[in-house]
Amino acid sequence: MTAKLIKGTEIREEILEEIEKEVKQIKEKHGVVPGLVTILVGENPASISYVTLKIKTATRLGFKEIQDNQPEDVSEEALLALIDKYNNDDSINGILVQLPLPKQIDEKKILNAIDPDKDVDGFHPVNVGRLMIGGAEVKFPPCTPAGIQEMIIRAGVETSGAETVVVGRSNIVGKPIANMMLQKAEGANSTVTVVHTRTKDMESHCKRADILIVAAGVPGLVKPEWIKPGACVIDVGVNRVGEKISEKTGKKIAILRGDVDFDAAKEIAGWITPVPGGVGPMTITMLMKNTLKSLKFKLGIA
Ligand code: GUN
Repeated sequence: MTAKLIKGTEIREEILEEIEKEVKQIKEKHGVVPGLVTILVGENPASISYVTLKIKTATRLGFKEIQDNQPEDVSEEALLALIDKYNNDDSINGILVQLPLPKQIDEKKILNAIDPDKDVDGFHPVNVGRLMIGGAEVKFPPCTPAGIQEMIIRAGVETSGAETVVVGRSNIVGKPIANMMLQKAEGANSTVTVVHTRTKDMESHCKRADILIVAAGVPGLVKPEWIKPGACVIDVGVNRVGEKISEKTGKKIAILRGDVDFDAAKEIAGWITPVPGGVGPMTITMLMKNTLKSLKFKLGIA
């Protein structure tokens, strides 16, 4: 193995400790803690497990956490009324509506109803615009891209002047991370290319990449020969390719595979993120960071 492993599980602990310390200081000085509400509609097992982890993490950090579960058949009006309630709740700094939502609900309408200053997911058009402008305008960078950038910075990878290639153009990962990597900022200043399903020669672009960020959701899409020797490879893919029995719990668990052929890629890359244990743990961590940031904005100390 030549590549250095960038472990999300380790970086998560570093950041959570930093947040925990700050929460204590703010509590002592200002008598308040960050407040986060997570709204979960229905019983999608993946959503339940994400939300459970969010609650656990927020609680560990000393946040006020409200878990608001709604039935699968909740109406759009009821959900909008709920968001309005939390928009006006002074003890709540972050509102997160777990996606996906059931078919009867217009997801866009719901996300747009969240107060942009409590939109810790960074999905509201106002926050997407703030991200595009960059610099001091940015309030809440979306959590997965923010986690990716934090990993690149903490691993000590040079981004200034680097060729960054992003595979995938989703609103949640591809588009925002491409935007972030080209800003005039720390951990950015890259020359960015975005490749996607209509790109003519994906391989030739990937081969140029000093930093290759792959968020396509296609297991093993990026072949080892597409990787430039010494490149930093960030694999955002979390693909369920089967099931196995957990040695720890004896329960059935998913077998996860990334978008990159890890075993071969780690012999070529300079840095690489594993799946699982890479980008995954960073998303919830950055959600906590955004929620703390929201409180700090309110207190005028951000
Ligand atoms: N569902 C899957 N990922 C996410 C996320 O980052 N935020 C929200 N709100 N829902 C999700």
